[in-house]
Amino acid sequence: MAYDLIVIGTGPGGYVCAIRAAQLGMKVAVVEKDKTFGGTCLNIGCIPSKALLYASELYEEAGHKFGRMGIRVGEPALDLATMMKFKDEGVDGNVKGVAFLLKKNKIDSFQGVGRIAAPGKVEVTSADGKVETVETKNIVIATGSDVAQLKGIAIDETRIVSSTGALVLPKVPEKLLVVGAGVIGLELGSVWRRLGAQVLVVEFLDRILPGMDLDVAKQFQRLLQKQGLTFKLSSKVTGVDASGAKLKARVEPAAGGAAEAIEADVALIAIGRVPYTQGLGLDTVGVKTDNKGRVMVDSRFATSVAGIYAIGDVIAGPMLAHKAEDEGVATAEIIAGRAGHVNHDVIPNVIYTFPEVASVGKSEEELKAAGIAYNTGRFPFTANGRAKVNQTTDGFVKILADANTDRVLGVHIVGADAGTMIAEAAIAMEFGASSEDIARTCHAHPTLTEAVKEAAMAVEKWSISM
Ligand code: FAD
Ligand code: NAI
Repeated sequence: MAYDLIVIGTGPGGYVCAIRAAQLGMKVAVVEKDKTFGGTCLNIGCIPSKALLYASELYEEAGHKFGRMGIRVGEPALDLATMMKFKDEGVDGNVKGVAFLLKKNKIDSFQGVGRIAAPGKVEVTSADGKVETVETKNIVIATGSDVAQLKGIAIDETRIVSSTGALVLPKVPEKLLVVGAGVIGLELGSVWRRLGAQVLVVEFLDRILPGMDLDVAKQFQRLLQKQGLTFKLSSKVTGVDASGAKLKARVEPAAGGAAEAIEADVALIAIGRVPYTQGLGLDTVGVKTDNKGRVMVDSRFATSVAGIYAIGDVIAGPMLAHKAEDEGVATAEIIAGRAGHVNHDVIPNVIYTFPEVASVGKSEEELKAAGIAYNTGRFPFTANGRAKVNQTTDGFVKILADANTDRVLGVHIVGADAGTMIAEAAIAMEFGASSEDIARTCHAHPTLTEAVKEAAMAVEKWSISM
């Protein structure tokens, strides 16, 4: 039987695309090589990492914050196996949710590795070697990404781990070496620091979180240092000797120079992710990739071959679940003849540490590089009533608005619940708001979101609480 659409990969891009296409009346099937649906995000990414971030944050609060509020619970004790079970239950609930949704929308699923044999033909090889060819009018590649490897360092997922291994460590390492001060390094570094590890983060560049607003990154680094994380910037790990009881990492200045040996129990390699197109047969059908191996698409997610589309981590843009989801919806709508679209200028980015870091739109560095004149409104949480009473005053809100039109171009937040608050900024930007629109919108009191309003007021220098 021929399908209208076959989606290869069931991460947030793939499964959302399949469901939207089914809603629009298409006959849809998905192909997934792994045992469970949900891709990186649900199985080994967003969901398990957030479960551990949440649980470890409460553990830290119980140990360090409850007493200050007059809550006596004694010294909390860590039961890591139960914490891991808590995480696994969360993953299980989520992947089962996707299976339910696919079924509810009458989407067929094929378990196995999908290969595009020709436009309109997907070959599925199951684990037992059985090969089946399925016909379809359209194909969406949603095969996601995989861990980037560091040359000469073999990940064994036991002592030298990627994020996947770092989510299942059986005991708290005494010393954790994190290679890469990106999102994974800082989120999972925070988890294991809270649970008792000494964490050293080695970063190639002279700053953490490349791509994030520098002001935010600097403040965030200070806060993480206060919590006990240590950083070695402008440095690279050039080898890890795993022959002894302790790992010995060779760390060199990024610009070259004398190496030093750093001991660790576990090394987390978190230097980015790469698009996953292995075995897809892109060359055979002529689907073009760029110099980073990403599938090339036009603004309507069409590849170089008619009837074949691509979305999510496997194409250019931030490797984020919600970006993949929105591309999935847009592509299903485009295939159905509708006007699907993703506004790539308004994609929020959140780091789920404590405090959280969240941003949407342009950073100051990007605006400067583009020669765009802007005004800045900044408001610290030390001046926000709710943050004061909660004693979560670390961080600030920064709003960047066009100097000529006052249109909001970027919003950056470091602070408790920043990830939730950034939605307000994203909606405002999607509607083309000015900073004055935010400043004159009534915000409930006492909430942390009043800091967003005050930062907007600060753009025109009339912040009341500062
Ligand atoms: P994926 O989720 O990678 O899914 C691709 C699917 O395709 C996989 O299931 C794979 O098995 C399957 N597949 C691949 N090739 C084939 C084939 N040939 N045949 C059949 N199936 C195939 N993003 C956020 O927005 N928020 C977060 O908090 C967040 N946390 C993260 C934490 C970690 C530790 C990691 C690693 C990532 C995190 N991400 C987060 C990123 C997020 O997981 C990805 O951006 C997202 O999963 C991309 O979705 P996708 O659908 O493009 O691909
Ligand atoms: P990343 O791209 O965020 O950070 C990698 C870091 O490693 C960079 O700072 C880079 O300069 C550094 N680096 C690269 N090579 C190095 C080397 N040889 N030595 C030392 N440092 C080196 O990648 P990360 O953290 O692996 O995350 C991968 C992707 O997963 C990200 O693109 C992110 O979007 C996504 N993700 C998103 C999350 C979220 O939204 N909260 C959480 C976790 C991951």
